[in-house]
Amino acid sequence: MENKNNKIKAIDIINTIEEFAPKELAIERDNIGLQVGNDINKEVKKIGIALDPSLSVVKKAEKEDIDFLFTHHPILKDPIRTITGVIYEKLKILSKNDIILYSAHTNLDICKNGLNDALVDLYNLKDVNNLYDNGLGRVGLFDGSFPELLDITKNNICKNPVVVGAPNLTKDKNLTVAVLSGYGLSQSSINFVSNKNIDVYISGDLTHHSKIIAEENNLCIIDGGHYGTEVYGLKFIKKYLENRLNIPIVSLDF
Ligand SMILES: [Fe+2]
Repeated sequence: MENKNNKIKAIDIINTIEEFAPKELAIERDNIGLQVGNDINKEVKKIGIALDPSLSVVKKAEKEDIDFLFTHHPILKDPIRTITGVIYEKLKILSKNDIILYSAHTNLDICKNGLNDALVDLYNLKDVNNLYDNGLGRVGLFDGSFPELLDITKNNICKNPVVVGAPNLTKDKNLTVAVLSGYGLSQSSINFVSNKNIDVYISGDLTHHSKIIAEENNLCIIDGGHYGTEVYGLKFIKKYLENRLNIPIVSLDF
């Protein structure tokens, strides 16, 4: 999406991202879109991509001469009343270097070929439906055994996934598998999935209490980690943007 002068502007990048992950797909109150910056017509020569706009990512962006930082997670989840400490440091670095920060969060999880669909492709799930009505998560049939499912996870998502409840699995193939990129192993989500005739639920961020609920409901869980279940798809998004934008894109935390 280059303009006549062969210069890429921030707005060109934003349009390319939003074409892929439309903003209206995001769940209510999610903090998406332009996070830091004013001049969306400024020229961009180098893009940084990261899962999180962490302090170390922001420092790397400065070091790498990044003009436009694209992250999955937004810079702030909840409103703040003061700008001090780490958030001050991040804003100082971003504004001093005129780095635009832009995030596509749940819209990137939900969209076609987004982070959830990347997991569908990885496990080659068939007869796929959305897990939640808002578009988050997917559920489909896995044509293989549980050890095969676990091997794919270990080879692509995370080397040491946490497994809960595997001995309770009665089927040895054609498993109904749910996937949800990121934070899917909350207590409420495990309760929801437990009522859906799902054999295995693959997501991230299992806690002690959600593990107990999974065991009580005989739900088999693979915790591939928040990072692993999201970065897997983010790598494809990076390739997609490289093909479309024709300027360097540097991974800053994966
Ligand atoms: Fe996430």
